[in-house]
Amino acid sequence: MTEEHFSAKPVSVTIQSGKVTWQSPSNIALIKYWGKKANQIPENPSISFTLNNCKTITTVTYTLKDNKTDFDFDVFLDGDRKDDFKPKITTFFKRVEAYFSFIKAFYFKIETSNTFPHSSGIASSASGMSALALCLLSIEQSLSDSETLDDYFKKKASFIARLGSGSACRSIEGDLIVWGKNDVVDGSNDLFGVKYPYPVHENFNGYQDTILLVDKGEKQVSSTIGHNLMHDHPYAQNRFQQAHVNLKKLKPILESGDLTAFIELIESEALTLHAMMMTSMPYFILMKPNTLEIINKIWAFRKQTGLPIGFTLDAGANVHVLYPRKDGDEILEFIKHELVAYCQNGQYICDQIGFGANQLL
Ligand code: PMV
Repeated sequence: MTEEHFSAKPVSVTIQSGKVTWQSPSNIALIKYWGKKANQIPENPSISFTLNNCKTITTVTYTLKDNKTDFDFDVFLDGDRKDDFKPKITTFFKRVEAYFSFIKAFYFKIETSNTFPHSSGIASSASGMSALALCLLSIEQSLSDSETLDDYFKKKASFIARLGSGSACRSIEGDLIVWGKNDVVDGSNDLFGVKYPYPVHENFNGYQDTILLVDKGEKQVSSTIGHNLMHDHPYAQNRFQQAHVNLKKLKPILESGDLTAFIELIESEALTLHAMMMTSMPYFILMKPNTLEIINKIWAFRKQTGLPIGFTLDAGANVHVLYPRKDGDEILEFIKHELVAYCQNGQYICDQIGFGANQLL
């Protein structure tokens, strides 16, 4: 499949105005995407758990306008106008313009809110960009003369979300999504995320992700800069290859439900991601002292109890604590008593594996 598959549908702009709302979740990668080529094409495959509770809700109100030569929109977060979000959305509109024929014909009022605190250090780009992509797809659908098939809708939504933020393409559906061409997963490709199509053991049903908010500040290095630093990185090629190998290893683990092997693989992935950051030039560190305190506590608790508790990290200091639902009570007690003390203002979010975005209006 190529980009042409998603080219702009002919639409009839006789509709004067309309309104659409989507809620879309965040996701947490188990095998990490870090490094990209032009046009948001990943250097290696990734796979993620879609989350359930960390979501963005976006309403787009569209009104036909006279001047059709430029983009015209405003953005509001929790009701407050956010002009500082506009450059990112303008870049996104430029990237997706070729795939929607109506984007310059309407004024868009984009109203968005997150179920998690905006300044929590949780990337809202995956949930935010996927919610916006889905709104654009719904608008295309209502303006279009031809019927849009569900499969095409989801694929194009993921394709469009990817152009906003790479990892956003993994937020349209759940519960395990693969993005990036590889030999392990049939149908995998660089343009959009696909549902993991093989057997998954019941150990992973309702898998828990408790997100410990270690540092809520602005990241010192954005993921865009971080991805770019993989271009002249001395270990890049090995890392890209390793992601393929790890995906191959993950398949039997997901099938058998071997949690020891699962934890080993995902923790290694998380630390490798941060090792790539530390060995970039310029080098940088996104973990904080409390990130390491938490990791050491998790390791000690696991050794002492034998419980299958593990962690992963995204591009920041926060720790995602991953564990099966059946051990949830015991592990959550440990988190509350031993780990929350390392969180900024004691803040953490209880989430679990989820099933993707929903249209609300
Ligand atoms: O989607 P981006 O460009 O913000 O990159 C996300 C990269 C990681 O979160 C670190 C890994 C991943 O696969 O989600």
